[in-house]
Amino acid sequence: MSGKRRVAFVTGAARGIGAGTAARLAADGIAVVIADLDETACKATADAIVADGGTAIALGCNVTDEAQVDAAVDHVVAELGSLDILVNNAGVTRDNLLFKMSADDWDTVMSVHLRGAFLCSRAAQRHMVKAKYGKIVNTSSVSALGNRGQANYSAAKMGIQGLTRTLAIELGPFGINVNAVAPGFIVTEMTIATAERMGLTPEEHQAKAAAITPVRRVGQPEDIANAVAFLASDQASFITGQTLYVDGGRRL
Ligand SMILES: NC(=O)c1ccc[n+]([C@@H]2O[C@H](COP(=O)([O-])OP(=O)(O)OC[C@H]3O[C@@H](n4cnc5c(N)ncnc54)[C@H](O)[C@@H]3O)[C@@H](O)[C@H]2O)c1
Repeated sequence: MSGKRRVAFVTGAARGIGAGTAARLAADGIAVVIADLDETACKATADAIVADGGTAIALGCNVTDEAQVDAAVDHVVAELGSLDILVNNAGVTRDNLLFKMSADDWDTVMSVHLRGAFLCSRAAQRHMVKAKYGKIVNTSSVSALGNRGQANYSAAKMGIQGLTRTLAIELGPFGINVNAVAPGFIVTEMTIATAERMGLTPEEHQAKAAAITPVRRVGQPEDIANAVAFLASDQASFITGQTLYVDGGRRL
């Protein structure tokens, strides 16, 4: 790969952890595709990266839509020449205790996290296998280990770990590494919405989480971006099938 500019496709990258990851990969000299539901929101994130001297393009793509995913990935390869790194980051929560959880809450969370990661990985590997090179980084969560009110999310995030191990086995012979990061509490709109649901201000919610975290702080998108950048790099080429918890030492 020496000399060739790599291309990364980051889902859910309009904001939060995905935007932070895209900015970090761009700072490393990688051309990044900012893929998210809303192309307008993607554009603001891509423009900020370009203003900082990076290469980024914005792309509207719902990861649960098979045709959209296949078209988006093919478009990226046609425009930028390859797809070397896929970061499956798009996510949603629909928290509720089991007895109040609707089938729609269940299906939505399964669809975005699991179907989304499956569809994007399948589309990306078509190009990666041909190139005999690829890095896929999935997004699990500490909630995979169990979290009250998150039966759907927890099941999906542990499912991501099984998907990661299996894709690592299938794709390893083709020069493709597949790993996952499992973030702890990261300050994004997702955790700000959780604070609101709990009747706390974001600052109160963050302070409570920091107090029970061994490193005594909550995480920022950059904390996850750093781990993703390592797993997506050639320094991690003998690491595959792993889930790296990036949580300040707190397992819920
Ligand atoms: N914030 C945390 O504390 C935390 C902890 C563990 C894991 N995670 C995971 O990290 C990832 C990013 O979370 P975040 O905190 O940045 O959340 P966020 O809500 O700030 O951002 C998620 C992004 O995903 C996009 N998205 C949602 N559905 C999509 C779809 N169908 N297709 C394309 N894009 C879609 C949203 O539009 C949004 O821009 C998620 O997978 C989340 O589950 C977050």
